[in-house]
Amino acid sequence: MKCPVIAVTNQKGGVGKTTTAINLAQALALQDLKVLLVDLDPQGNATQGVGVHLESIRESVGELIRDRTMSAERVIYKGDSLDLIAATPMLSRVEREMVSITNSELRLAQRLATVRSNYSVIVIDTPPTIGPLMNSALNAASHLVIPVDSSYFALMGIKELLSEVEAIKDGTNPSLAVLGYLLTLADPTNITGQAFDSLMGNFGEQVFETRIRRSVKLREAPALGKTIFHHAPESAGARDYLSLTNEVMSRLGIGEVSRELADNQARRPTLSVVNGGVL
Ligand SMILES: Nc1ncnc2c1ncn2[C@@H]1O[C@H](COP(=O)(O)OP(=O)(O)OP(=O)(O)O)[C@@H](O)[C@H]1O
Ligand SMILES: [Mg+2]
Repeated sequence: MKCPVIAVTNQKGGVGKTTTAINLAQALALQDLKVLLVDLDPQGNATQGVGVHLESIRESVGELIRDRTMSAERVIYKGDSLDLIAATPMLSRVEREMVSITNSELRLAQRLATVRSNYSVIVIDTPPTIGPLMNSALNAASHLVIPVDSSYFALMGIKELLSEVEAIKDGTNPSLAVLGYLLTLADPTNITGQAFDSLMGNFGEQVFETRIRRSVKLREAPALGKTIFHHAPESAGARDYLSLTNEVMSRLGIGEVSRELADNQARRPTLSVVNGGVL
């Protein structure tokens, strides 16, 4: 089977895309899968969230898209458990340039295709806007995970995203599929219950059973450059993302989460994330 490429996407801001991308990627890596995390947001939140300082980055996803001769291998940061293609703020300049570059929205897909066989799963974090970068992710992906926050307005905008997805399927990426909708930032309020009910009403079994609860540990982790599995492996947030990972693996047909593996790995003190560039 070809390595699945999961884009975590929703053009609504602040719904937990980055939190989901980094913790899903890390949880998959803790299952002894070879995982590549691709940050495709000029904010570079996923990059920083796994412990890489933006100032230390020499080559990033921006160069990969802009320079047709740049090999993906060159921009991959090798981590102990997780590999990363980083993003920096220059990516927003690249996005503006993409409008005048032929087939620029296919570049990421083409570059990732060259390293796909080295990985078990690739996870892409996307920016909160529909545009050339989002389309690049939709072209490169085989599957989408769509985080939806537990707010009154949560479902607004998903229609817009889905019409973009349909356009991509009709054109350049016919096999793109929604792997699931994920309720995030869940708390014990009625609003959360209503958001889940309306998600279920609209998307039924496509909604993951796992809900990601709102938690302080999940909010703290990015500032420390750690995933939840290194910041607070026993926390509710870690359990929620492990449970999501279980569902993701099952939907992809790549087995079940081994709790033992996750526990043992997360206890290894040096495991944390990315060490630095390979250049
Ligand atoms: N389950 C959670 N509990 C508590 N805080 C959370 C949770 N999920 C995300 N957050 C926090 O909410 C904020 C937004 O989350 P995140 O950055 O993952 O969203 P995003 O969709 O990637 O945002 P953007 O659209 O800006 O890229 C961050 O400060 C993050 O730490
Ligand atoms: Mg983000």
